[in-house]
Amino acid sequence: MKKLTLLVSILALSALSLAAAPNGKALSAKCAGCHGVDFSKHALGRSDVVKGWSASKIEAALRDYKTTTESDELVMRTEVKNFSNAQIKAIAKYISSIK
Ligand code: HEC
Repeated sequence: MKKLTLLVSILALSALSLAAAPNGKALSAKCAGCHGVDFSKHALGRSDVVKGWSASKIEAALRDYKTTTESDELVMRTEVKNFSNAQIKAIAKYISSIK
């Protein structure tokens, strides 16, 4: 009986960790209005085209935006300030994979 309880707990825990893995594609849906669905637009006519960037470059930019105080970057701070590092990683990985 104890073994069964243990097995059930392990299964429940692994299901939880799967559900908790952030989905970069889903997270990036709210970026599309400005950057385009495939990130090929100059957001608000101001940003660089992010499509084609490496995951590490995107990740570094998003991490910087989390704490920026530059007035022209505050729009991006609002977008990413509540993202965890894991969510930033997932979104950067997804965007860098867009063909
Ligand atoms: C309201 C419009 C808007 C939305 C929504 C938005 N962005 Fe941006 N984004 C901008 C603007 C404007 C800039 C340029 C800011 C600056 O001057 O650094 C920018 C810059 C960036 C950059 C760096 C590009 C550069 O020019 O250096 C990345 C990467 C980025 N955004 C990713 C995202 C991601 C990922 C999301 C969704 C979570 C998102 N953006 C949502 C407007 C937006």
